[in-house]
Amino acid sequence: MTIDEYILSHIDEEGTLLSSLNRDANVNLLRPRMLSGHLQGRILKMFCRMLRPYRILEIGTYTGYATLCMAEGIEDDALIHTLEINDEMEDFILKYLDRSPHKDKVRLHIGDAMDIIPQLDETFDMVFIDADKRLYSDYYDQVFPKVRPGGLILADNTLWDGKVLEKPHPSDKQTIGILAFNEKIKNDDRVEKVILPLRDGLTMIWKK
Ligand SMILES: C[S@@+](CC[C@H](N)C(=O)[O-])C[C@H]1O[C@@H](n2cnc3c(N)ncnc32)[C@H](O)[C@@H]1O
Repeated sequence: MTIDEYILSHIDEEGTLLSSLNRDANVNLLRPRMLSGHLQGRILKMFCRMLRPYRILEIGTYTGYATLCMAEGIEDDALIHTLEINDEMEDFILKYLDRSPHKDKVRLHIGDAMDIIPQLDETFDMVFIDADKRLYSDYYDQVFPKVRPGGLILADNTLWDGKVLEKPHPSDKQTIGILAFNEKIKNDDRVEKVILPLRDGLTMIWKK
């Protein structure tokens, strides 16, 4: 048994809906590794249990795996706005969302986050940035004024497979984007921050 298998066998199960989604994604989608997965999904749910966010923004839905995990952890009157640019994902997302008892807590927006965020008339308690790595700093700048003081911003993949330690090739815009984002957060005095070495790196950013 690996340490990862040990962890997964000693934490809450992901449940039948999410494990079907996970299997379906692995069989039928390109890049299934993009979805949060069992461990990170349970962590996102736990954050929701602890912080009790009333309004959540997720930037980058993909299959809706993380969306459904967060939806499990919030109250019935809370809401997640989740944004996905790829309209080909819509049927997959809705297939599982419709089967979830938490579907009424989710509002899916198909389109570019950079266009949708300014239109959302909300104050967010929690934001999960998990879309185009080249645009992390832009998403952050756009969403920051909409996050309440004391709100939490999570950013996924901030260790980017360890590539943050290397000098990026000039054509590697994703690594350059993550490096710029990490520097920006490090130097932003408006927030407290910590990088969890979980999976591909999960940065927790708390707005003062
Ligand atoms: C890593 S996946 C999201 C995984 C999901 N949050 C989870 O944890 O299960 C990134 C998604 O962001 C979407 N995306 C990329 N750029 C975007 C943008 N500008 N606006 C909205 N979605 C975007 C991609 O199409 C992709 O489906």
